[in-house]
Amino acid sequence: MIRLQSPLPDDYTRASQDELAARVAAAKRRLGHRLLVLGHHYQRDEVIAFADATGDSFGLSRYAAGHGEAEFVVFCGVHFMAESADILTGPHQQVLLPDLNAGCSMADMADLDQVEEIWADLDQVVDVSSVVPITYMNSSAALKAFVGRHAGAVCTSSNARAILTWALAALCPSPSPVPGGRGDKVLFFPDQHLGRNTGFQLGYGAADMGVIDPRRRLGGLEERDVKEVSLLLWKGHCSVHQRFSVDHVERFRAAHPGGIVIAHPECSHEVVELADEVGSTDFIIKAVADAPAGSVIAVGTEIHLVNRLSSLHADRTVVSLDPLVCPCSTMFRIDLPHLAWVVEGLVEGEVRNRITVDAETAAAARVALERMLAIA
Ligand code: 13P
Ligand code: SF4
Repeated sequence: MIRLQSPLPDDYTRASQDELAARVAAAKRRLGHRLLVLGHHYQRDEVIAFADATGDSFGLSRYAAGHGEAEFVVFCGVHFMAESADILTGPHQQVLLPDLNAGCSMADMADLDQVEEIWADLDQVVDVSSVVPITYMNSSAALKAFVGRHAGAVCTSSNARAILTWALAALCPSPSPVPGGRGDKVLFFPDQHLGRNTGFQLGYGAADMGVIDPRRRLGGLEERDVKEVSLLLWKGHCSVHQRFSVDHVERFRAAHPGGIVIAHPECSHEVVELADEVGSTDFIIKAVADAPAGSVIAVGTEIHLVNRLSSLHADRTVVSLDPLVCPCSTMFRIDLPHLAWVVEGLVEGEVRNRITVDAETAAAARVALERMLAIA
């Protein structure tokens, strides 16, 4: 869902980068510990320069929750991240997103109405009490609340394996102290690739997985298939990570026979199968740091993180797996003019672009997030 950001005053759009940087720095000094600026790994360098903490989506929300002294949390990331931060922070903390158009196209591929329709369809065919809904962190608060209400959990790209193992405990019968789970099927949304890659990691085969197309009744599956498969994968994807292809891996390997390929699990299974290492943004950062000096490393993730890793490790060659890769266009919306506009608003006593999740949704979403924390 696209939320409209009103155009910024000329004072912000006409100012030079140096002037804006000086203004953001001055506002941060004025606000002191009342302000926390968080920067996701995919943000531009000029924004990261002002981040009090950088990290992945979940790590940053936890960081904000652990810094209760910050009244204002400016989340330089995308909308679902700011929502998660609002859910996990205290009632005295306000979360701001510098540009309201910074959504996530993958998160927007599943909305509550669609998920409820598919759930009702599934209910006609199987006992839904044995279907565990799992939502990737990259989803709206409304979907996190849905899984919280239906005995499911949230997962991130670093703990998806543990969460699916918990969810499918009826099939992998190790007892779990965490209530919920114990299903014989998972409905996984919105990223089919993370779900599929994790399913293969756990030993499931292609025949154990079905893709749910939200525009078709029963997701376009036959009743027989719904009954037989263990993983129902929502037909969503990340347009940035889906671009990486087998051809990119083959070209890189031909040019750099000893090279290392590291991919994010939002990439397709074909790419993940060919990669040397696969993991979340935090994992990728560690894997590049751990690679020997002199390595040539192709990374299948968003270009700002790849470029930052390249500058950070001058003794290694770090390139994008796709030489023509484009940035995440929604992350890219957060820039110095928008950052300056929100922090100067705070200095003037005006809270701009506050992101709030209503209390009922937040309570159910928190259940799903806390289950995740208890599991992994
Ligand atoms: P992380 O949770 O690993 O930061 O990933 C977020 C994301 O949007 C990946 O595309
Ligand atoms: Fe969403 Fe993909 Fe951008 Fe991550 S990189 S925020 S999944 S569109």
